[in-house]
Amino acid sequence: MKHLHYIITLILILSAGIAKAGEGMWIPMLLQYNEKEMQEMGMKITAEDIYSINHSSLKDAIVLFGGGCTGEIVSDYGLLLTNHHCGYDHIQKHSSVEHDYLTNGFWAMNRGEELPCPGLSVIFLREMRDVTERILTGITVDMSEDERQAKIEDNIKKTIAAIEKETPYKVSIKPFFLGNEYYLLLNEVYTDVRLVGCPPSNIGKFGGDTDNWVWPRHTGDFSVFRVYADKDGHPAVYSADNVPYKPAKHLDISLKGAEEGDFAFVFGYPARTNEYLPAVAVDQEANLIDPITVDLRGKVLDIYNKYQEQDPKVRIQYASKHASIGNGWKKWMGVTEGINHFHGVEKKQAFEKDFQEWALGARNRYMYIDLLNNFEKNYKELEPYELAYTYMAEAGLRIELINFAGRFAKLSEVTKDTPQEDINRMVDNLKTTVKNFFKDYYEPIDREVATMLIGEYLKAQPADFRPDFLNDIKDVDDYVDKLFSKSMFTDEAKVKDVLDNFKAKDTKKLANDPAMKVYQSMIGFYRSEVYDHIVSLNDNIDRMRRLYMKGQMDMQPDKRFYPDANFTLRVTYGKVEGFKPQDGKTYRHFTTLEGIMEKENPDIYDYVVEPKLKELYNKKDYGRYADKDGTMHVAFTASVHTTGGNSGSPILNAEGQLLGLNFDRCWEGTMSDLIYDPDICRNISVDIRYVLFIIDKFAGARHLVDEMTIVE
Ligand code: ARG
Ligand code: GLU
Repeated sequence: MKHLHYIITLILILSAGIAKAGEGMWIPMLLQYNEKEMQEMGMKITAEDIYSINHSSLKDAIVLFGGGCTGEIVSDYGLLLTNHHCGYDHIQKHSSVEHDYLTNGFWAMNRGEELPCPGLSVIFLREMRDVTERILTGITVDMSEDERQAKIEDNIKKTIAAIEKETPYKVSIKPFFLGNEYYLLLNEVYTDVRLVGCPPSNIGKFGGDTDNWVWPRHTGDFSVFRVYADKDGHPAVYSADNVPYKPAKHLDISLKGAEEGDFAFVFGYPARTNEYLPAVAVDQEANLIDPITVDLRGKVLDIYNKYQEQDPKVRIQYASKHASIGNGWKKWMGVTEGINHFHGVEKKQAFEKDFQEWALGARNRYMYIDLLNNFEKNYKELEPYELAYTYMAEAGLRIELINFAGRFAKLSEVTKDTPQEDINRMVDNLKTTVKNFFKDYYEPIDREVATMLIGEYLKAQPADFRPDFLNDIKDVDDYVDKLFSKSMFTDEAKVKDVLDNFKAKDTKKLANDPAMKVYQSMIGFYRSEVYDHIVSLNDNIDRMRRLYMKGQMDMQPDKRFYPDANFTLRVTYGKVEGFKPQDGKTYRHFTTLEGIMEKENPDIYDYVVEPKLKELYNKKDYGRYADKDGTMHVAFTASVHTTGGNSGSPILNAEGQLLGLNFDRCWEGTMSDLIYDPDICRNISVDIRYVLFIIDKFAGARHLVDEMTIVE
C-alpha cells in the first residue's frame, strides 16, 4: 500500500506539468482566460466570438431545451437541432397507431405541418454577471450556517428585485464553486416550439439500450424543432399568427468533418458534476454505493431479459423500464471501473496529504486544519443512512407492486374532513395511473424480482436497522407468494372497482392491503430513522465542501479552476480522438454506415435497418455528405468533458462551425463526473453530415437543409 502511494505520488509529480487537454466546464463570460490555450490547441476564433454581450456571438444560438437537454439554432428561421432522445417525449405524445412517428419518423414538408408541443420550452441566455460581492455582503465567518443561508437568500431576493426593474428578461442567481461565487443569469424563455422532423427510431435510437454508453456507436440521435415568436421576435404563447424566431446568430455547418487531433469544443448545459470531492466521498460513491446499485439493478435486468426474450409482448412492456434502469446501471459500472483503473481515490488521498501540510503551514489557514478529518467523520456517519436509502430505493421500491401500492397512500389516508373535490381529483389521477400500470405489468416478472430483491435487502441490512416488515419474514418465497396472492394491487379489476365506487370506508381496505403495509413500513422507517440524519449530515458536508473548494483555490492560486456543472451554459474543449479503453484494445474516433450494416439483425429490435437506408447504402448515394474517404461517417468521439444535460449540445470545430451533436459518453470514462482522465474520458457525437444525409437523402426534406448555412 505504501509502495503504491509512493508510485502514485511520483506519477502525479511527473504529470503535473502536462496540460490536461479536455478537462473543464468553463463559464462562457470568463472564456478570455482560456482563449490562449484554446488557440494553441487550434481554435481560430476568439472568446468574444463565442460569448459576447456587445455583439452577436455563438451563445445566441444555444438553448436549454425542455429543461434537461441542449439545443442549437441552425437557421435564420428558428430551426433547432437536438437529440432524438431529447425530443422523444414530444415525438411520443404526437404518436398514435395511425401516426406512429416513433416507429416511422415524421417530417413536416412545410411550416403548416409542424406540430405544436405544449409544455415544451427553450431558454436563451442573454447575459451573465458576476454578483458574488453583492450576494456575500454581510456574510461573516462567525455566522451559523442558518444565518448565512438566510442572509444570502435575502441578498439574492433583493438583487433579483432590483435587476428585474431594469430588464425584460427572467432573472435568476445561482451559486458556483459550491457557494463561493454567485452569478446572475438573464434568460429569455420561448414556449412556442414545434416539432419539424425526426428519423424513425431504428435510426434515431439505432442500437437502443444495448449500445447505450458504448463505443463503437451508430445512433442517428437527432430531431428537428422550430422556435416561434411574436412578430417582434418576443416570446409568445402558441398562436397560428406567430412567426419563426430570428436569432441574433445561428450556427454554420461544416461538411468537412473532423480529423483525429483536431480541436473541438462543446457549448451547452451540463447538469451536475462533483469534481472537488474528498477521497472519502469518491471512495464511498465508487466503491460502496454504486456497486450495490449496479449489482441490484443487474439482477433485476437479468430477470427482465429472461422474460423479454421469451415473449415479444413482454419485451415491449418492459422496454422503457429496462431503458431507465439500464442507463444508470451501465453508467455507474463505468464510474467504479474508471475510478479504480485511474487510482482516483489514491490520487485524491495524495493531494489531501499535501493539502493538510499546506493548511498546517500558516496560521491564517487554521479553518482548513480539521476539514479532512471532519469529512472522514461525516461521510462515515452518513454511510448507514445512505445504505438504508439505497436499499429502500433500489430494492424496496423497485418492486412494482410495492411502488404501485404506494401511489394509493394518500387516498388511503383521506378522512371525513378531506374535501370531496380533492378526493375526486385523486381518484381521477389514479385511474390513469392504474391504466398505465397494468398496460405494462407482467406479474411473473415482478414476483421473481420481489423474491430476489427482498432476499438481498434482508441479507444486507442489519436486523436492528431496517424496516419492520423485513423482520417478520421467515421464508422469502413463501412471504412473496402470500404478498402477491393477497394484495388487491395485482388485480386490475379489483383496483378499478375501488376507484369507480370509492367510499370513505375503502380507505381501510387500501391501508390494510399487505403491499400497502410493506410500503408504509419502508416509508415510516425512512421518515423516522433516516431522513433527518441525511439532511443534517449533508448540511455539514455542504458547508465543508464550500470551505474545501475555497481551500483548494487558496492553495493553488495559479491553477485555473472551473465550477462544477449546475445546469448553466458552459464551454468545454478538447480534441477529436479515439482511445485505448484497455491494454491491447484501441478505438478509432469515428464509425460509418458500414458498421450499421455489420450490426444489422432483423430479429433484434435494436438492430433493424430501414430498407431505404440500405438502398442508399447499396447505391452509395451519399451526395455531398460523404467523407473524403468516400464513406458515410455516422458518429465520432472526442476528449471533451461532458455530462448529462449536454445531450443535444453542438460540437464545433476550430472555426466555430457545427461538426455534430453530442449525445453520450463512453462508459469506460463515465467517472468524468468525479474525476476527468484525458486518456479514457470520451464524449460521443453524431456526425452532422449523417444528420443532413438522413434529412435530405433519406427523408427527402431537402428544404430544411436549404435553410441552413452549409460550409462545404
Ligand atoms: N446514455 C445517454 C444519456 O444519458 C443516452 C440515454 C438515452 N438513450 C438510450 N439508449 N437509452 O443519458
Ligand atoms: N445522454 C446524456 C444526456 O441525456 C449525455 C450523456 C452524458 O451523460 O454524457 O444528457
